[in-house]
Amino acid sequence: MTKRRCLISGISGQSGSFLAEYLLSLDYEVFGIIRRHSVSENQNSRLRQVQDKMKTFYGDTTDPYSLAKIVRDVKPDEIYHLAAQSHVRVGFDIPAYTAQANALGTLNMLEVYKEEAPGAKFYNAASSEMFGNSVEADGSQNENTLMNPVSVYGCTKVFGYNLARHFRRAYGLFICNGILFNHESPRRGSNFVTNKVVKAAVDIKMGKTNMLYLGNLDAARDWGHAADYVKMMNKMLQHNVPDDYVVATGISHTVRDLCEYVFSALEMDWRDYVRLDEKYLRAEDLEFLRGDPTKLKTTFGWEPEYTFESMLDEMIEYWLVKHYMPEGE
Ligand code: GDD
Repeated sequence: MTKRRCLISGISGQSGSFLAEYLLSLDYEVFGIIRRHSVSENQNSRLRQVQDKMKTFYGDTTDPYSLAKIVRDVKPDEIYHLAAQSHVRVGFDIPAYTAQANALGTLNMLEVYKEEAPGAKFYNAASSEMFGNSVEADGSQNENTLMNPVSVYGCTKVFGYNLARHFRRAYGLFICNGILFNHESPRRGSNFVTNKVVKAAVDIKMGKTNMLYLGNLDAARDWGHAADYVKMMNKMLQHNVPDDYVVATGISHTVRDLCEYVFSALEMDWRDYVRLDEKYLRAEDLEFLRGDPTKLKTTFGWEPEYTFESMLDEMIEYWLVKHYMPEGE
């Protein structure tokens, strides 16, 4: 039997790398799009263990010519569009680029898909940042919650989400939006709050530094593990009809809770080490996220393997071993 062929934009990112591993384990032929980085080690650092089992191409969502050539060459059965400028606060610093890469980038991906591979299935990475500060009466967000974004990044994701739905209806294409809530792992960039806190707490414990500067400690997020979430991307595309799904744990914690858990796990009191630096505050922040994954549970029997605690334990272990264990121990 011929293998199914998948193409992943953003394959070198946290979710892209987990998705590539997962699809390889399901015996897909995996192809990926990588944006050129001046330090080539950085563009492949998350892919080392699977590099020789897949093929990657240079491309960029802002460059439709590159996308068209790749899609023509690969002839994918499934396209996973994950590439984005994914940092919400940085989106305030580079708003035009964020809009080019995320909003027009998704338009480019969808147009190329429609023209070059309309028989394929398409996963679009939407985001819980699209909800802004909207919540249902029970305090959660679901697929029908009003989208009222509070960041440039969130606005770009609403654009891509609506475009994906429009292409699905207008052209009868198989397109799913995954509305993913925050997903983390040891591979998370260390300027996102989970890995920033874990890495700094480990460094403080080992005497390498003595303070951690953060922004809004009251913000609450529904944090899950990226390895669990990428499995749902694939599940959506195997369903008989294309649809949109919230992917979340249904449990929310504040940034303060996060600090408390991580520092306590390392036998420290976070209040001794965490200070406010206003540069990490956002022009407008999303205050509360708690996803309602009922639709995902009902349709796919969603049951994540990781909890908030086991995910953070894994991240703490990773930073301890990576930086402080002598080779071979
Ligand atoms: N990054 C960061 N750095 N965030 C901080 C800090 C800090 O020093 N201090 C407090 N925070 C707060 C932010 O204000 C935000 O409310 C929360 O921690 C989480 O921030 P991030 O980890 O940067 O993630 P995010 O929620 O903004 O965005 C992530 O999740 C989205 C899904 O909701 C990203 O992965 C997005 O790409 C994704 O779409």
